[in-house]
Amino acid sequence: MKNIEINIEKVFDFIPEEKIYALKGAIQEHIKTLYEKTGKGNEFLGWLNLPSSIDKSEIESIKATAERIKERADILVVIGIGGSYLGARAVLEALSNPFDHLRKNSSYPKIVFAGQNISEDYLFELIKFLEDKEYAINVISKSGTTTEPALAFRFLKEHLEQKAGKEEARTRIVAITDKQKGALKQMSDEEGYETYVIPDDVGGRYSVLTPVGLLPIAIAGFDIEKLIEGAMIMQTLTSYKIEFEENPATIYAAARNALYNSGKTTEILVNYIPYLQYISEWWKQLYGESEGKENKGIFPVSVNFTTDLHSMGQYIQEGLRNNFETVISVNKVKHELRIPEEKNDLDGLNYLAGKRVDEVNKMAELGTMMAHIEGGVPNIKIEVPELNEFYLGQLIYFFEKACAISGYTLGVNPFDQPGVEAYKKNMFKLLKKPGY
Ligand code: PA5
Repeated sequence: MKNIEINIEKVFDFIPEEKIYALKGAIQEHIKTLYEKTGKGNEFLGWLNLPSSIDKSEIESIKATAERIKERADILVVIGIGGSYLGARAVLEALSNPFDHLRKNSSYPKIVFAGQNISEDYLFELIKFLEDKEYAINVISKSGTTTEPALAFRFLKEHLEQKAGKEEARTRIVAITDKQKGALKQMSDEEGYETYVIPDDVGGRYSVLTPVGLLPIAIAGFDIEKLIEGAMIMQTLTSYKIEFEENPATIYAAARNALYNSGKTTEILVNYIPYLQYISEWWKQLYGESEGKENKGIFPVSVNFTTDLHSMGQYIQEGLRNNFETVISVNKVKHELRIPEEKNDLDGLNYLAGKRVDEVNKMAELGTMMAHIEGGVPNIKIEVPELNEFYLGQLIYFFEKACAISGYTLGVNPFDQPGVEAYKKNMFKLLKKPGY
């Protein structure tokens, strides 16, 4: 069986190999610190052993809840923001048929999202859409007081209660929140909602392998056990017992820190299949919130190729030379489609006749990498054998582990996010929230 692999050969054209491997000693110390739980933010290291420590009974309970929701609802509204939303969305978008939502009949509830913006029109149109639908709500918030999800839940709870009746609504609302404290916990206890716990020692952006990600993914009909199995393999492959050179997480952390130290302050996560767009969104939160502090940190951005080669491609090729790319390359696609021959060949594509579409995509990937390296953009490649639950589990855990090591290498606490409070304080003051 193959696993996800990292290849940093195309960084060596820009930074000598020795410079990257010079970080080995420091990084080995950081990984030790992580496992000994003696570093910054050590109260948030629950995710480290999450794949292997997930309770079997919790998985069974999640699967049973998923079945119950499936019986009662055609639509599931997942309410949450940031770490309480992006992981689930990333996995769902990566695994779903993009045209499924246009199909009338589906054996699993379709997922829609709310609570990740404050758009009045979005909420209005969602409520209108739900008017004649059988729907359920999965509200996810560790604090229970985050403005965006609390606002959406206030509207949708009332709507569902009016539509289905209070008793029925109670059976269709599942809350995922803190074990003891917080408004959502109190409300769930009072209303009698089924609840799942976000562990105290797991921060939002590291929570996809808790019920936060697992429940919506299970409700959509995907195999959460395979996801966990993949993450578990990566837990072993990136353990402190693995040699630095063999550990994909230490190699990634070393390469990106060496690039950062050489002035490459922006990392562009690249994909060549649209299914990965939300993996990039999740990754941006993970790395941006973990490292962007104390006036330092790589700025994480993302592009979807070949789409964005027709827009951002220009900048990447010839703009400011402070970028490097990390390309997620998926080896095997699910379906086969060969390019047909056409009599007149007006579009000039007959030279491709008989080839797979994916072969064209792979050549676009290779050609782009060569051009960007030529243009001064170092490339890291992450090879994913196939896009399925198992490899997504590997990819998620790989990025989480590498992020923690990378954050420690940068010298910051990768598990806090003090900066996200600044806008809230101003907003609350402007809205005249009591106490502000
Ligand atoms: O990573 C984080 O901590 C944040 O993105 C939070 O997950 C996000 O702000 C949502 O917070 P909460 O779950 O308390 O509603």
